[in-house]
Amino acid sequence: MQKDDLLRLMHDPNLLPAEMQDLLSSIAAQAASLNMPCYLVGGFVRDLLLNKPVNDLDIVVEGDAIKLGNALIQKHGGKLTAHTKFRTAIWHPSTSLRASLTPDAIDLTTARKESYDHPGALPTVTPATIEDDLRRRDFSINAMAIRMDGDHFGELLDPLNGQADLDQGIVRALHSRSFVEDPTRILRAIRYEGRYSFTLEPETRKLINPESFACLSSLSGERLRHEIDLIFEEGNAGKIIIRVDNLKVLNVIHPALPRFNLTYANFLDMDQNLDFPRSRITMGYMLWLKDLPEDEILSIAKRLDFTSELTHSIRAVSQLKKKLPDLMNSKPSVWTFALEKFPPDSVYTVYLVTRENALLEYLSIWRYVKPHTTGDDLKARGLQPGPRFGEILSHLRAAWLDGVVGSREQENELLNTIL
Ligand code: CTP
Repeated sequence: MQKDDLLRLMHDPNLLPAEMQDLLSSIAAQAASLNMPCYLVGGFVRDLLLNKPVNDLDIVVEGDAIKLGNALIQKHGGKLTAHTKFRTAIWHPSTSLRASLTPDAIDLTTARKESYDHPGALPTVTPATIEDDLRRRDFSINAMAIRMDGDHFGELLDPLNGQADLDQGIVRALHSRSFVEDPTRILRAIRYEGRYSFTLEPETRKLINPESFACLSSLSGERLRHEIDLIFEEGNAGKIIIRVDNLKVLNVIHPALPRFNLTYANFLDMDQNLDFPRSRITMGYMLWLKDLPEDEILSIAKRLDFTSELTHSIRAVSQLKKKLPDLMNSKPSVWTFALEKFPPDSVYTVYLVTRENALLEYLSIWRYVKPHTTGDDLKARGLQPGPRFGEILSHLRAAWLDGVVGSREQENELLNTIL
């Protein structure tokens, strides 16, 4: 791409908010004053060339990234977290510089080469040129750089022909050991393929094979789960998981992982304006694993290092689905007292797959219904605090839920009959 065309993209406020453009100019000026070649890399370049709005700023310098970071905080303030071993830093610009549309952290990295002691190990890192740095990356579409310092601002570096692959919609690994050295890239490749409706380049497709599967098997649960979490963040997560399955990768991660039911995929984007925090990722796992037997859920949870909270939410969906027939045609109070034992996002997931309206009533109304009477009121009436308190308050709450009382006066009358 010509420099002028690239500059036009970099100045397009729909792709790069004005605040981010300003931030980039400041970084470019600092790098130039230090005589330090400085580049935007990775997803930033890829998404800009695809005419998609960019989010992260990923910056690589030929020189010392920590030095650049220090110059930036001296000029613009903010905080720097430096890792001296890898000469990398994360700059958190001060809130005055950082408007709502700019990232709150910017990665500053020293260009580096990586070598791996054994597959799946963390790499040994040595300083290098930008071209070396691009060559160590995962895919050609992620291995382009835009130079920023001084007169070089807006020059595209594309030694691995990423732009041609972007134009043709191809995900191409840079070398034949890529997935063996870093098996998370198998899942990354499928994620990019699904996100952009690209295709795996045939040789890259062949690298998803028993040799790289062996390396994938020895990855830690945490790293595997992180990659699956990232898939659930994608708009078409369901299709991507199915493709992971079709390429026989799911089975390697854990043989009990089931096929994702595509009819559930849209549920991930549903918003019923319910006021409890719902994470797309947790919902994804719940929808995916809810029909498995308990022992398989636990075995997958162990392999993927789920938090106990996530495991609990998935098990709750499976248990609530089984309990549902017993609750049918119950009074609202019976529903409410039963459902309160489950996390709201699990109840919501069961609603999505069963459309049982009582679950939605519970989430949006019933669970907020409380009597006016409080423990203090009961004390004021001379009752000693104890388990009886809870029973009385539950009784009053049930009366509200089931429409037995509908005003404070009626609640007081009922309380008088109980006491
Ligand atoms: N990268 C890599 N191998 C990995 C992970 C990352 O080579 N296993 C490189 C790629 O060049 C990638 C960059 O590091 O572009 C940044 O990684 P990441 O932040 O995960 O991806 P983005 O490119 O920002 O893409 P997105 O977050 O949109 O998936």
